[in-house]
Amino acid sequence: MLNQLKQKALSEIAQAQELKDLDVVYRRYLGRKEKLAKILHSLKDLSEQERKETGLAANQAKRELEEAIKDKRKEIQDALPGGKTPPGGVNWIDVTAPGVRLKTGHLHPITLVQRQVEDIFQSMGFSVIDGPEVETEYYNFDALNIPPDHPARDLWDTFWLKDANLLLRTHTSPMQARYMEKNNPPLRIIVPGRCFRHEATDATHDAQFYQFEGLMVGESVSVANFKGIIEAFLKKFFGPETEVRLRPGYFPFVEPGFEIDAKRKRGKWLEMMGAGMVHPKVFKAVGYNPKEVQGFAFGAGIDRLAMLKYKIDDIRLFYENDLRFLKQF
Ligand code: FA5
Repeated sequence: MLNQLKQKALSEIAQAQELKDLDVVYRRYLGRKEKLAKILHSLKDLSEQERKETGLAANQAKRELEEAIKDKRKEIQDALPGGKTPPGGVNWIDVTAPGVRLKTGHLHPITLVQRQVEDIFQSMGFSVIDGPEVETEYYNFDALNIPPDHPARDLWDTFWLKDANLLLRTHTSPMQARYMEKNNPPLRIIVPGRCFRHEATDATHDAQFYQFEGLMVGESVSVANFKGIIEAFLKKFFGPETEVRLRPGYFPFVEPGFEIDAKRKRGKWLEMMGAGMVHPKVFKAVGYNPKEVQGFAFGAGIDRLAMLKYKIDDIRLFYENDLRFLKQF
């Protein structure tokens, strides 16, 4: 009888769904006036031997049931919202629980700067054009008045591809020729994009970097126009206190050529771009008449702009993908 009682109680415990079901089972079997208690109470009517055996068994059953209830209580509590396991392994939803904040990504500093550059030039009437990273030898060099034996080819240490005459572009200037071949003046474009040079890296040089080419051609586009536009751009980009200086520079595809440096308040001068008036030979190569049109071109380092803007002293940080660095933008 005791055993039957225990089995019945154990099966009711196993079936309990909620804590209050367990309370009912507890009271039904272990309550002071309930079944087990009655058995214990009736011991006095038994012989000494029977009393001993039944008493022992009844106490043992009582402990087992208490243990089973305790285990089941824990199981039910764990399955409650805030508990450890969902009931039956199914996810419960507590609509009142605080949400988990999702980590959102953000743009790379180079992309941020590229977009600012695009915005500023677009506001001055320039279109943004895209060009190929794998270039032909012709557009990267020949169309820009850099023939095969010209010493200036050494200026652009080149990654050549196995395919004959293909290379990773060393600058965005090839897009000058590509664009002018297909479009008539007047024109104003910028061409942002990645460039590659086979050179030793240091704090301001990397083997890959970003440039944007600028090109403005018309009947009477002059050096004064260039200076005005480039100063307007740099002051908008860095702030009105920025100083800009032009130094003479040599590039085979411009005449005269310049290097442009910028300096922020209390900062150091940093070379930002090469530039100049488009060389007549370049106009000829694309089918323009150099007597009818003139214009300026420039190629600026986007990484250098980003370095000066965000006060970063090593260009290589942009390409290491170290989250401690990237998270700061
Ligand atoms: C040129 O690449 C010319 N195509 C620029 C040009 C365009 C001149 C149109 C005239 C007319 P240069 O090699 O100086 O020039 O590079 C231009 C800019 O790119 C530099 O001022 C610098 O800001 C950036 N730059 C060049 N090499 C690297 C490099 N290895 N790492 C990071 N930035 C670089």
